Formats: sequence, structure tokens, C-alpha cells
Amino acid sequence: MRAVHAYSAVRPWDAQRTLLQLMFAHDPYPKIDPIFGVMRWETRKMMPSADFADLKGASVLITGGGSGIGAALTEGFVRQGANVAFIDIAEGPSTLLADRIEKEFGRRPLYLKTDLRDIEALRASAAKAAQAHGDVTVLINNAAWDERHAVEDVTVEFWDNNQAINLRPHFFTAQAVAPGMKRAGGGSIINFTSTSYLINHPDMPAYTAAKAGILGLTKGLAGKLGPDRIRVNAVAPGWVITERQQERWVTEGALAAHVAKQCIKEVMRPDDMVGTVLFLASDASRMLTAQMLIVDGGFL
Ligand SMILES: NC(=O)c1ccc[n+]([C@@H]2O[C@H](COP(=O)([O-])OP(=O)(O)OC[C@H]3O[C@@H](n4cnc5c(N)ncnc54)[C@H](O)[C@@H]3O)[C@@H](O)[C@H]2O)c1
Repeated sequence: MRAVHAYSAVRPWDAQRTLLQLMFAHDPYPKIDPIFGVMRWETRKMMPSADFADLKGASVLITGGGSGIGAALTEGFVRQGANVAFIDIAEGPSTLLADRIEKEFGRRPLYLKTDLRDIEALRASAAKAAQAHGDVTVLINNAAWDERHAVEDVTVEFWDNNQAINLRPHFFTAQAVAPGMKRAGGGSIINFTSTSYLINHPDMPAYTAAKAGILGLTKGLAGKLGPDRIRVNAVAPGWVITERQQERWVTEGALAAHVAKQCIKEVMRPDDMVGTVLFLASDASRMLTAQMLIVDGGFL
């Protein structure tokens, strides 16, 4: 079955198949009917329609920009006319994304293959972004690894590896771009954290510890870099259904239960993060710093 009509009810025997197969393949997206509690499909424009004039030509660096939320951010900034460089460890999806964006918008984002655990490689990639596009004035620390882990299984190596992806790069990317931002007269750093650490998520303590740490890092850097007009904020998404979430963790029951607790009864997708990040990147938010914006459809 292909659910192609706005508000066509999903038959119960099709629900699992349609959820998994259609969530990313087609425009229609699932929505929980607030009255009847069943899954329905709706069509909408995904990317925000707002234009932020100051982002045109801006030099933007995104970590983990090759898939998931990061890919939506890469596209979202290209749509604004920004010069985007993105770091990602996964070459296949990253190259495909750069190809697609170039074809669709006539502007190719610069893909920099990098493992963020390697700080020298990270520094070299930040320098390449600045060489290509001028001093980076917008940095988005988006990459993460949300592997589930049981308390009893965590080793020192696992813990350190987890922090080396989920927390450590956020500091070193900021350190790498801050002098250029200062030269340029200011900048915006946006760190992705997660509501998972606020809801006592039980299955990934190393990840939630890193995500809580990101808030401390955000506020510490905002205090230090504010006098140079560098703003530092965090974005905390709720449950956003990316390719990885869909493959690894989504079940219809869990998703429906989650969405039922949101004020807005819609499944969040990567594009839903873009508007908030554009706003934080642009001078529309020029006095907003040291804050965490929760984008969770009103779950919390
Ligand atoms: N999806 C959600 O429900 C959700 C919820 C809360 C917070 N977040 C946060 O939003 C951000 C994006 O999440 P997502 O769901 O799109 O993640 P994702 O796992 O789908 O994508 C992460 C990207 O980072 C890249 N990456 C991972 N390790 C890397 C490394 N060592 N070096 C370079 N690149 C690496 C991956 O290749 C991938 O492209 C993350 O910070 C995540 O913690 C997501």
C-alpha cells in the first residue's frame, strides 16, 4: 500500500510496513490523530520557508553533516546561500548528499572526510573549511553516536570512545574556529545536545553524560567568547526520526506512545531542526547566547 493522500487512515495490518517503508521514501508523513488515536498520513513542506539574509555567503562548518539531522542542516544552509563545509566519517552517504545538493541547488557543499576522534584531523578539516570559504562564522557541532549500552557492559575503552565522539570534539572544533570568528567580528556556535538526559533515559548513560556536559561546555564557552561577539547555544531535540533511528530503534508502538506525549502530535523529522538552527546562526538571535533551546514538539 502507498499512502499518498493527505489524511488517509492507515489500515492496522499495513501500519508497520508503511511506517518503516514510507517514512522517508515519500512526502506523506505519519501523524497521530488527536481524537481517534490512529496513525494518519499528511503531506507538508519540510524545510522552513524563512530567509536569513545574513547567512547568504556565510562560511558554515557542520560536523556529522552527511546523514540524519546533519544532512538536513547541510541542505538547509545551502538553501540560504551559505558556503557549507561538513565533516563526516561516513564517505558513502556524505558524497551522495553533496552530489544531490549540487544537482538540486547548483552549489556543492564541501565534504571533509574526518573522524572527529582524531583531534589533529579535526583541526586540519576546520582549517580547510576556512581556506575554502573564509573564516568560519557558523559552527554546528552535530555529530554523535547514540549506541545503547548496559551499565554492566561498559569498559573504560567504551566510555572514552563514547566521550571522544559525543563531547570532546565540541570543545576542539570551537577552539579551532574561535580565532577566525573573532577576526570576522563574531560568530555563532551551536551544539547539539539531547532531551534524553532530561528524561532519565536508561539505556545510554555515557551518551547522556556527554549530552549533559555539552550544556556546561556551551555555557562556559559562551561566557569566555561572548566579549568577542561569539555566541554559543545548544539545541536539544526530542525524538527525531532519522534513517538511523528508523533502522535501529523505532517501533510503531514506541513512536506512537512518544508522539502521544508531545503537545504537537506529529513525528519529528530532521528538517524540523533546521529553522531553529538557522535562527540561532543568524543575527536574528544576536543577543541570544548561553541558552539551550528544546525542540521536542512539547514532549517535556
Ligand atoms: N535523532 C534523534 O532523535 C536525536 C534526539 C536527540 C538528540 N539528537 C542529537 O542530534 C544530533 C544529530 O543526531 P542524528 O540522529 O542525526 O545522528 P545520526 O547518528 O543519524 O548521524 C550522526 C552523523 O555523525 C556522523 N559521525 C558519527 N561519528 C562520527 C565521527 N567519529 N567522526 C565524524 N562523523 C561522525 C555519522 O556518520 C552521521 O552522519 C546528535 O548530536 C544527536 O545526539 C538526535
